[in-house]
Amino acid sequence: MVNNQECEVFDVHAHTRAHVAYYFAESHDFFSGDTIFAGTCGAIFEGTLSDMLTALKKIRALPGQTKIWCAHEYSLMYLKNAARVEPWNEATKTRVKVMEDLLQQKQPTVPLLLSDEILTNIYLHWDHPHWVQSRNGKTDLEIFQKIAETDG
Ligand SMILES: [Fe+2]
Repeated sequence: MVNNQECEVFDVHAHTRAHVAYYFAESHDFFSGDTIFAGTCGAIFEGTLSDMLTALKKIRALPGQTKIWCAHEYSLMYLKNAARVEPWNEATKTRVKVMEDLLQQKQPTVPLLLSDEILTNIYLHWDHPHWVQSRNGKTDLEIFQKIAETDG
């Protein structure tokens, strides 16, 4: 309990081997550490790509209105990168403009909304039709790896 609100601790090891995130279901707040940012995921220092996919699957399964309190203000840089990796994604282009406006007004871009990430975060697109095309027996991890390679 924190401030009379129940807090669920998520094991999201990948960035580091003991990385955790904190989820407050009542207020829809998710403190994600360095696991997810606007348009991207955290660097994988101590885990594997498979660990990161497992962590992101837990996050994507949360309600769309979940507010993601990520640990850095990286939004514009990585959304521009997401627009490069997914040039077909109109939602990403729109969101780049939203972020530019916020920053121009000296406003924070965090918290992020999970529903926005689902549309524009390349690392949440392991089952997106664009990346899957015909699956041909490919696993989520193989598709996730392809996204990571395209990201470079
Ligand atoms: Fe960090």
